[in-house]
Amino acid sequence: MTAAVRPADHVIVLFGATGDLAKRMLLPGLYRLAASGLLPAHYRIIGSAPAAVALSDDDFRRHVRASVSEFGTVPAEGAPWETFEQSLSFAAADPERPGPLLAAVTAAEQAIGGDVRRLYHLAVPPPAFTSVVAMLGATGLSERASVIVEKPFGNDLTSAQALDAAIHATFDESAVFRIDHFLGKESVDNLLALRFGNGLFEPIWNREHLAYVQIDVPETLSIEGRAAFYEGTGAYRDMIVTHLLQVLGFVAMEPPTSLAARSLRDERRKVFEALQPIEPANVVRGRYDGYLEEPGVSPTSTTETFVALRVDVDNWRWRGVPFLLRTGKCLAEKRRLVTLGFHQPTLRMFDLDTKRLWSSGADELVIDFSDPGTIEVAFLAKEPGPTMRLGQATMEFAYKESFASANGLAGYERLILDAMVGDQSLFTDAESIERLWEISAPLLEHPPPIEPYQVGSWGPAPVTKLAAPHRWHLPTRAR
Ligand code: BG6
Repeated sequence: MTAAVRPADHVIVLFGATGDLAKRMLLPGLYRLAASGLLPAHYRIIGSAPAAVALSDDDFRRHVRASVSEFGTVPAEGAPWETFEQSLSFAAADPERPGPLLAAVTAAEQAIGGDVRRLYHLAVPPPAFTSVVAMLGATGLSERASVIVEKPFGNDLTSAQALDAAIHATFDESAVFRIDHFLGKESVDNLLALRFGNGLFEPIWNREHLAYVQIDVPETLSIEGRAAFYEGTGAYRDMIVTHLLQVLGFVAMEPPTSLAARSLRDERRKVFEALQPIEPANVVRGRYDGYLEEPGVSPTSTTETFVALRVDVDNWRWRGVPFLLRTGKCLAEKRRLVTLGFHQPTLRMFDLDTKRLWSSGADELVIDFSDPGTIEVAFLAKEPGPTMRLGQATMEFAYKESFASANGLAGYERLILDAMVGDQSLFTDAESIERLWEISAPLLEHPPPIEPYQVGSWGPAPVTKLAAPHRWHLPTRAR
C-alpha cells in the first residue's frame, strides 16, 4: 500500500472487453481514472475478444462510450472523453491466432515510444485463462508485463493448483494480480485505519473482549440472468471463498510491521493457515424460491444461492471466537457488514429488560463496508428518569458526512491503479488461495442439503441456530 504514484507508461489490454464485467465496471473505471489524471502520462487501451465477437475500433469506442454513459460516474464528453477515446482500439485475439493482438500492441507501443509496460486484464471465463496466458508467453507479449486475473480462481484445490502452475509457467508471482474487488473498497482499508490507527480499538480486537465476529453480505439481487455462470459456481464459490474470507483475512490479521504489500499479505496468509477446515455441520445452504424456474437453471440443480457458516481461526488471538459468515441472493436487504460482538458484562445490578436488550445485540461494533461506509458502536445507556433503566444507544460515523468522497475510487479503479504501480497489498497470493480451497474441501465434498427460503427474507430458518447462542446482527427492524 503506497502513497499515490503515477504509473509508468502502459499499454492496457482488456481481454473480455465486450463482456458484462467490462461494460459495468472496467471500462467506466478506466475512464474515471483517465478523467481524474490517474492513468499514466501516456497510455493506450486495447479491447480484445475472440474473433467471433470482435469489434472494429469505431464500434469499440461507441461501446465504451455507451458503457460509461450507463454505468460510469464521469460524463463521457468534452476534452477528457476526447483524449480517452483516442487511446482506444480493438484487436481480436484467439489463442491460436494472436497476430492481430501482437500487431496492435506493437503499434500502441510505437505510438507511445520509450519504455512501455503492459497490463493484461483477464476478464474472461476461467476455462479461457490458461490458453490466453500461454498465448502471451508464446508470443513474448508477457515481457514487461503484469496480469490481472479475475475470480473465481479455480473450483477447488486441484484446479487452483493447475491454474497457478499454468500462470507461473509464463509469469512470475510478482507480476500476477488476482483481483478481488471487495479488497479495493475504501472501507476495507479503513478497517486497518480504525484498528491500527487508534488506541481505542486494537486493544479490544481479540478473544478477551470479543464473543463473536460476523461478516454478513446479504444481497437483494437475484442471479440476474447469469445462470450460465452461477449454476457452476453457487454462493460459496462466488462470494465466500473469495470476498468474505478475504475480508476475514483483514479483520483477523495480526498487526503488520508496515503497510507494505509483503507484510499485509504475510499476515493475511497466517490467518488463512490458522483457519480450520469448514465442517459441513457448521454450514447452512439455501436456495430462494423460484430459482429452479430462472432461465438457464436446471430443474435438478443443486446450486445454492445462500450460505451461512461458522469458521474458527485457531490461533492465540481468536481461539473460541466463532466467525459467522453469511451471504445470499434475493434477501431482504443489500448490506456489507463486519460486526464485532463484545462479551456480556455482569448485568446483575440491572433489571431483566436490560438482559433481554443486551442479548439482542446491544454491545457491538458494526462496520458497514459499503462505499461510502459507516462505523457504528451499539451500547447501552441510561434512559433519563428516576429509575435505572437502560436503553439501546448508538454512535455512528458516516463517511459521506465526514469526508468529501470526490477522491474515493471504486474497488476496481483502485485495484487497477495498484496493479499498474506493482503494489500487491490488496491482491491475493497463490498460497493463500490454495489454502482457502484446502479448508473448503470437507464442505465441497459433503455439502449439506439445500434449504428453501422466501425471496425477501433473511434466509432459511436454521441460520438462527447456527449463530446461537449469539444472534445475527441485522438492521434493527429485522433482528
Ligand atoms: C461479484 C459476484 O463478485 O460480487 C456477484 O460475482 C455479487 O454475484 C457481487 O453480486 C457483489 O459485489 P458488490 O460490490 O456489488 O457488493
